[in-house]
Amino acid sequence: MKRVFLVSIFSSLFSLSLSAQTALTIPPVLTGTTFDLSMEASSKEFSPGITTATAGYNGAYLGPTLIFNSGDVISIDVKNNLGTDTTTHWHGMHVAPTNDGGPHSIINAGETWSINFPVLDTAATMWYHPHLHENTMEQVNMGLAGMILVRDDTEVTAGFPQTYGVDEFPIILQDRSFDTDGQFLLSPFGDTMLINGTLDPFLEVPAQMVRLRILNGSNERAYNIGFSDDRSFFAIGADGGLLESPVSIKRIVLAPGERADVVVDFNSLQGTTVELVSYASELSPTISGGRVTPGGGTPLDAVNFSMLEFRGVAPTADAVTDLPSSILVLERLSEADTAVTRTIQMTGGRRGQPFTLDNQLFDHARIDQVVSLGDIEIWEIENTTNIAHPFHIHDVQFFILDRNGAAPEIHHAGKKDTVLVDAGETVRFITQFDDFADPDVPYMYHCHILLHEDQGMMGQFAVVEP
Ligand code: C2O
Ligand code: CU
Ligand code: CU
Repeated sequence: MKRVFLVSIFSSLFSLSLSAQTALTIPPVLTGTTFDLSMEASSKEFSPGITTATAGYNGAYLGPTLIFNSGDVISIDVKNNLGTDTTTHWHGMHVAPTNDGGPHSIINAGETWSINFPVLDTAATMWYHPHLHENTMEQVNMGLAGMILVRDDTEVTAGFPQTYGVDEFPIILQDRSFDTDGQFLLSPFGDTMLINGTLDPFLEVPAQMVRLRILNGSNERAYNIGFSDDRSFFAIGADGGLLESPVSIKRIVLAPGERADVVVDFNSLQGTTVELVSYASELSPTISGGRVTPGGGTPLDAVNFSMLEFRGVAPTADAVTDLPSSILVLERLSEADTAVTRTIQMTGGRRGQPFTLDNQLFDHARIDQVVSLGDIEIWEIENTTNIAHPFHIHDVQFFILDRNGAAPEIHHAGKKDTVLVDAGETVRFITQFDDFADPDVPYMYHCHILLHEDQGMMGQFAVVEP
């Protein structure tokens, strides 16, 4: 029954393309210690015969998956061939402010930004995207984004699937709208799903344990991820790192900027299919995607829809068949060691006004918070608006302490850098600001709904020597 319902939604959306499903594009990998990226204006046929103007890193749309090994010192060149200014930010990575690629690190048209840094993060699913203030949504919307996988020994010991493109796949979720000429509309919500830039995709997966690195790279829409047969799957990592043990769940809500590292048991899938679904009808109407969007809505709003069809094929010779019961022990920070507690209010949004943080619009020249290097801090994010916003902080990974006083969901009990704060909620997280101090170049914290960020729902913190 459920499946029939899903397919009918699907076919009304993709009447053109349903008859010709396309193999999911798997972004190529760049690995090693030297990375060359080139940001290019380009074009792509998402549907046969219709050419859409796009932008990408080293290609027409999105970018290569960068594989960093924890502990390596890497160098990256980012060439800007867009013909307009931009930046490139390493979302989730613990790097110095001058390497972070925030709005202060502009790469002028035609220039190359060359940086190097040690990879201090442990195994995680990160990503990269432009961060030029007021232009982030526009540049990401054109296709500028890519995935980063940080590898380490812990995941090797745990025995997780990690043969990229064989039993481990990047899944980048984006909604887009096309105008009548097939060009992207610049809108916070789209009416069509692109997965890794593929319209109406299928993916052949071996009938065994398969790992999905899922990123919500959308402008505003949140997804409530599950499978069409309602099967359980395992969360093994949150945004910035592995969980202490695999958590069996049926749904994961991913707001823009958030990632999930999951393992699905496809053992009995050979010869059959199952779909990756967003159960958006189950989302609260305060969450983007869980309500009809202003201005008439889209066919993806508050309904369940299919995003990707998995087709089971023969297992590989060295298939991963089980998961460890525990992965690692996370060193959690203690509230007793907290030096400072800050409250950040999500504000604004009334009567067509932009959303703000602490009732202030972003100001490039204003440092909103000064943090002492090495301090453990609690940040209390209080949402006074009537919709949910994903709060993201640069530089650090944090642990959620509580949400309205209650412990976080167990699949969120790992390292995170983005947390969805619902209307009226207060989320507290704890973090430590180690390694990088710079009084002149701040880091950002902001709502990861790209329109809100561009309109000024962003603040800056500087880390200084005590
Ligand atoms: Cu994904 Cu400040 O960004
Ligand atoms: Cu970031
Ligand atoms: Cu917001």
